[in-house]
Amino acid sequence: MIVLVATVIGTIWVRVPFVPTSKKTSKVMLDAADLKGDETVFDLGAGDGRLLIRAKRAYPRIKAIGYEIVPVVWFLGFIRALFSRTGVQMKFGNAFKADVSDADCIFLYLITSLMPILKEKFDRELKPGTRVISHTFSFKDVKPVRTIDVPGLLGGRSKVYVYEW
Ligand SMILES: C[S@@+](CC[C@H](N)C(=O)[O-])C[C@H]1O[C@@H](n2cnc3c(N)ncnc32)[C@H](O)[C@@H]1O
Repeated sequence: MIVLVATVIGTIWVRVPFVPTSKKTSKVMLDAADLKGDETVFDLGAGDGRLLIRAKRAYPRIKAIGYEIVPVVWFLGFIRALFSRTGVQMKFGNAFKADVSDADCIFLYLITSLMPILKEKFDRELKPGTRVISHTFSFKDVKPVRTIDVPGLLGGRSKVYVYEW
């Protein structure tokens, strides 16, 4: 009960619910990321780490780092990452305070209101050419190099935005 209450309070506080990316959309995001060699990959708001675990299974040499701020969700991700034996690093904390200057690729699935704050951070910190792959939410005034439609259940669809910073 305490765990449930803590998760609900944490989620309301960060304003972004924990909704994992589906397997199908993960595949689209991973294909779009075009990961190579020992690149460094972040998931800012990593949830239970499943996207990074999939990434690491497909590209074992990458360095995969996830940030998650809701304690129970982070712990779930930490345990999943541990049992996956992939070497995914699940860090507990605010993704907006993470140093992403060494990122080659960043995955996002957050919310519209947080995108402008992230844009400022990325403008300050990212190396030129860093790929940013965002599920559903786009950056205003940044042109994606590609937008991919992903058909979903019951005729629904989601979008994946691919940016190069
Ligand atoms: C929609 S879920 C996406 C999870 C995962 N990235 C995926 O695609 O499966 C967004 C997650 O971001 C987390 N989150 C929101 N704001 C955050 C912040 N400032 N720092 C770290 N995590 C955050 C939420 O707690 C939630 O678990």
